[in-house]
Amino acid sequence: MKTIHTGLIGFGRIGRVHALVGEALPLVAEFPFAVDTRLVYTAESSLPSYAAARHASTPQAIIQDGDIHIVDICTPNDSHYPLGKEAIAAGKAVYIEKPPALNAAQAAELARLAREKSVLSQTGLNYRFLPGVNALREEISKGTLGRITGFTVRALHSGYLNPSRPIGWNLKQETSGGGPLLDLGIHLMDTVRYILGEVKGVQAQMGTEIKERPGSAGASEPVDVEDWGRAVLWLENGASGTVEVTRVASLLEEVTTFEISGTKGSFFYDIHDPWILQHHSWETGVTRRYRCKPESGFGRHAAALYPSGALSMGWLIDSQFACLANFYGDVAEGRKSYAETPDLSVAARAQKLVQDCYDSAGRGGAYTPCKGEQ
Ligand SMILES: NC(=O)c1ccc[n+]([C@@H]2O[C@H](COP(=O)([O-])OP(=O)(O)OC[C@H]3O[C@@H](n4cnc5c(N)ncnc54)[C@H](O)[C@@H]3O)[C@@H](O)[C@H]2O)c1
Repeated sequence: MKTIHTGLIGFGRIGRVHALVGEALPLVAEFPFAVDTRLVYTAESSLPSYAAARHASTPQAIIQDGDIHIVDICTPNDSHYPLGKEAIAAGKAVYIEKPPALNAAQAAELARLAREKSVLSQTGLNYRFLPGVNALREEISKGTLGRITGFTVRALHSGYLNPSRPIGWNLKQETSGGGPLLDLGIHLMDTVRYILGEVKGVQAQMGTEIKERPGSAGASEPVDVEDWGRAVLWLENGASGTVEVTRVASLLEEVTTFEISGTKGSFFYDIHDPWILQHHSWETGVTRRYRCKPESGFGRHAAALYPSGALSMGWLIDSQFACLANFYGDVAEGRKSYAETPDLSVAARAQKLVQDCYDSAGRGGAYTPCKGEQ
C-alpha cells in the first residue's frame, strides 16, 4: 500500500480539519493508500502536541523535503500564491485552501503553472463533494425542472456581527483579498457554475456594516472589506438568479441554501442536511423530501467517499474528508481521475467570477460581462 506523505502549512482552524481527516481516514473506510501527515508548519509560537511532534521550522522545510508528496496550504489567503508557486516549482502536488489566491490574476497564474509543470492540484472547494450538490446537478441536467426560471443561493453567517471582534487577517483587504463575497462567495459561485452552467455576466452590490474594529495595538482600525454582498448572476443558458452572502446576519443558526425553480418544479437544498433534497413538482403538486443517491460517475465516487451514519463528523468535516480523500487517491494513482475535481483551474474560474462581482459593485452594480479564467 502506498503511503502519501503530506506537509501541512498552517495549523489554524482548517489546518486542524485537514490533519483530522488524515488521521480519521483509515477509521472511516478502507482506502488503497495510507496518509501520513509528516510535517506541520504553523506561525503560532505555542505548538499543540500534534504540530510539535511533526514540526517544520519553515514552510520551505516542507516544500523542499524530497519525501513530501503533497504540500497542503492552509494559511491566510495572502500566502497561498507565493507558497503555491514555490510548491509547484518544486514539483509537488498542491492542495490549496480556497480562495486559491488574493485575486483572479494570481489564481489564473497558479492554474497555468500547475498545468505547465504537470503537477496535480486541488483546492478546498469542498461543496462539489456534497451528495446533494451532485444529485441536484444530475436532476437539472436530466431536465427534471424543465427550463430554469430562477435561483436563490444564500450563505448567511453571524461571525462579524460582534463589533468587538478584533480585526484579524480575514477583515483586511491586503491579507484576505476580500470579505464574504470571496470567502463564502467562491464556494457559491463555483457551485452555481457546477450545477447550472456558465455565468455570462454579473451585477453586484456590497457593503460594510461595521466599519472599525479593535486592532492589534488596541486602537480601532478601519475595516476595508465588505461584510455583506449580493449578486445577480446571468447564465449563458438564459437563466438568472441571485447569490447572497453575509457575515452580519443575526440569525439563530447559519444558513446555506440553494433554491432552484424551473417550469416544471423546484428544488430546495440545505447543505446542513447534506443528503436531503426537497423536490416540488409543479405538474403534480406533490412535494417530496428524500435522501438523494447521486448516480453519475463523479457523483457516485464523491458519495462513496462521504462519511455517513455514526462516522459523520458534521457536514463541514465530512465534505472536507471526501474532498481530501479524492486528492489523496489521485496522488496515489498519479492522475486526476475526474474532470469535476476542483483543481486550480476550476478555482481560478470561480475566483474570476468573484472578482467580476467586485468590479460590478465598484461601479454601482453595473452589468459586468464574465470572460473565463482571467
Ligand atoms: N474550504 C473551506 O470551507 C474553508 C473553511 C475555513 C477556512 N478555509 C480557508 O483556509 C485558510 C485558513 O483559514 P483558517 O480559518 O484556518 O485561518 P487561521 O487563522 O485559523 O489559521 C491560519 C494558520 O496559518 C498560519 N500562518 C499565518 N500566516 C502564515 C504564513 N505567512 N506562512 C505560513 N503560515 C502562516 C497561522 O499560524 C495559522 O496556523 C483560508 O484561506 C480560508 O479561506 C477554507
